Amino acid sequence: MEKVILAYSGGLDTSCCVRWLKERYGYDVICFSAFIGEVSDKALLRKRAYAAGASKIYIMDLKKEFAKDFVLPALWAHARYEGKYPLATSLGRPLIAKHLVDVAHREKAVCVSHGCTGKGNDQVRIELGVRAMDPSLKIVAPLREWEFKSREEEVDYAQQNRIPISVTKKSVYSIDKNIWGVAIEAGILEDPWQAVPEDAYLFTRGAERKKGSKTIEVSFVRGVPVAIDGRAYPLVALIEKLNAIAGSFGVGRIDMIENRVVGIKSREVYEAPAAEVLLTAHEELEALIFDRDFLHFKKMLSDKYADLVYYGHWFTPLREALDQFFARHQDRVTGTVRFRFSAGQAIVTGRKSPNSVYSETLATYSAKDSFDRTAAQGFMKLWGLPYEGCFKGKKS
Ligand code: ARG
Repeated sequence: MEKVILAYSGGLDTSCCVRWLKERYGYDVICFSAFIGEVSDKALLRKRAYAAGASKIYIMDLKKEFAKDFVLPALWAHARYEGKYPLATSLGRPLIAKHLVDVAHREKAVCVSHGCTGKGNDQVRIELGVRAMDPSLKIVAPLREWEFKSREEEVDYAQQNRIPISVTKKSVYSIDKNIWGVAIEAGILEDPWQAVPEDAYLFTRGAERKKGSKTIEVSFVRGVPVAIDGRAYPLVALIEKLNAIAGSFGVGRIDMIENRVVGIKSREVYEAPAAEVLLTAHEELEALIFDRDFLHFKKMLSDKYADLVYYGHWFTPLREALDQFFARHQDRVTGTVRFRFSAGQAIVTGRKSPNSVYSETLATYSAKDSFDRTAAQGFMKLWGLPYEGCFKGKKS
């Protein structure tokens, strides 16, 4: 029997996919589940996959790989899609694609499959990834093909086929969550005028009642965030810790209208407390360390990078080359940034680095000033030379 590897979450959709892939295509279905957020109950996941008809399941904790190979490059790139979204989901998909292909090779499968809808960005990221790595693999996306038109029809199908469905009430929202952030969509959020109900939030729930403030320091060594308040953490733990601290103050909530790859606009709500803090901190340090031209040029590349991650172009020569650009001077990005968190805000209150090129004696207006003002006069003369008289007689 030919084998298919299915990216399996354990939810209703992908559980129905297992049975459907067997029935419709006659495949031997092998499930693959990756953890890049909180680790769910493995025994339950296994039980469900088998009950749905899978012959085998791979369960992998990929948080470390996700942090090192996907989050860190995106942090160095200062990647925020449309200037806002730190790309948590977008970064997770190529990792899943990579492992789908690995498992497919290991199992000598002919096909891979996923539970993404035909309207979203995630299908693009997974399928472009798979095709970049192995174009000979077939790809089946049951949700684009099958006959079910509603959740109720899926539930009927699951019941008829004795596929266990979750007893916990399904969220009214579509949620995707990993250590770099949560994406919340659908339900009443589809109306862009509706405020986000407090209970929609996961990382920052209850933050609106938070009082007071808290000061923390985040330290980086060679571009990598390594410590909070002087205490060292491995990358994943540091990100999780920041999600908890900053999240409790409601830091990192984003509510935006976003342009999807498939052409539609959608209203998206995100929570990315750690991403917000780390991106801001890294930007602050670079501002202290690098020159104007470098920083301004990098900004253009940051936007380009965010676009290509969002568009599913992770496995491309351009993404690799841009990563090298962003990595080039990270060995200088060592230092500490201080924040004050209070209701919904993370304010930077200080930054320092041994590699800072900020000069207090050049910047100061006090007696310590070492800036040569006499040189400014000649500079004015030449800087304005090309434009001398060019607005003469014109009303501005
Ligand atoms: N709009 C975001 C993106 O394209 C989030 C997608 C979230 N996916 C989900 N299944 N809820 O990256």
